[in-house]
Amino acid sequence: MNTTSLLGDKPVNRIGFGAMQLAGPGVFGPPRDSDAARAVLRRAIELGVDHIDTAQYYGPDVVNDLIHETLYPYPEHLRLVTKVGGRRDEQGGWLPAQSPAELRTGVEDNLRSLQVERMDLVNLRLMDSAASGDLLAEQLGMLEDLRREGKLDLIGISEAGADAVRRALELVDIAEVQNSYSVVNRSGEDVLELCMQREIAFVPYFPLGSAFTGGPAQLARDPVIAGVAQRNRITVTQVALAWLLSRYERMLLIPGTTSVAHLEENMAAADIELDERDLADLQNATQLGDPMASAHD
Ligand SMILES: NC(=O)c1ccc[n+]([C@@H]2O[C@H](COP(=O)([O-])OP(=O)(O)OC[C@H]3O[C@@H](n4cnc5c(N)ncnc54)[C@H](OP(=O)(O)O)[C@@H]3O)[C@@H](O)[C@H]2O)c1
Repeated sequence: MNTTSLLGDKPVNRIGFGAMQLAGPGVFGPPRDSDAARAVLRRAIELGVDHIDTAQYYGPDVVNDLIHETLYPYPEHLRLVTKVGGRRDEQGGWLPAQSPAELRTGVEDNLRSLQVERMDLVNLRLMDSAASGDLLAEQLGMLEDLRREGKLDLIGISEAGADAVRRALELVDIAEVQNSYSVVNRSGEDVLELCMQREIAFVPYFPLGSAFTGGPAQLARDPVIAGVAQRNRITVTQVALAWLLSRYERMLLIPGTTSVAHLEENMAAADIELDERDLADLQNATQLGDPMASAHD
């Protein structure tokens, strides 16, 4: 199995890092242990991570500040990917920030906090997957303006249903779709299939089932996943990640963790190939539904 793939035109390792969990509880405020968060980021780069997914509204600013403090000057091939479309209130509540002007501010806030002149990719994080055609055109038009101004290279879309992805593709080049998807949540299979047909990178968030809803503990409780793990002498999280990698050659993973040991375990999944029996068994893994139904980002 190839361990590298493409994000738009940019070669990246298929396992990257999702930085959301590095903020404090509820993705709000500073982490309990900033040194531990920095150690995870440093180890990620040592292990070959060249794709970090973040957002200025994680913290807010906390996660981008940690990335900047720890990794700047950034390695030449590190791809920094963010998302815009949301903001936080003073209690950590998640609010939409979907107007074109707010999207511009969102991109500029990321450039400021990461201290870069250009983002490698910016995802438009929709708050309503049935977004109206007019608003979507204005939103993507704003990202396209920012691209022409040199503030971002590639445009992605997140939390988008198949219709929204199709409409977006008519409006601009889409380099990534970032939706919730995992071995225990295949509710967005139609969007994955669309990405396969159009050869667009698919970046599943909550690849391990989401910290908000109990995370990998749910994987371990599933007898099918636990059985495949035992047979292959790997962990249940590695089963979940290897299953995702097997689905599509442009599936790019961004598992999140606050632990160096978990990071090492997750990165090792790049070399695991599940066989036909494993994949057939995993067809019967319990489906828990979309964790976003009970969580927010
Ligand atoms: N576009 C969007 O709307 C959106 C929404 C949510 C997330 N995201 C992105 O997707 C990334 C991934 O999402 P996520 O981090 O919430 O979900 P996740 O990767 O499915 O799960 C993270 C949880 O799994 C645990 N974990 C990770 N590796 C483990 C291992 N090897 N063994 C045991 N537990 C492990 C983590 O705890 P420990 O810290 O203890 O390891 C954490 O609780 C985020 O960082 C963010 O960049 C995007």
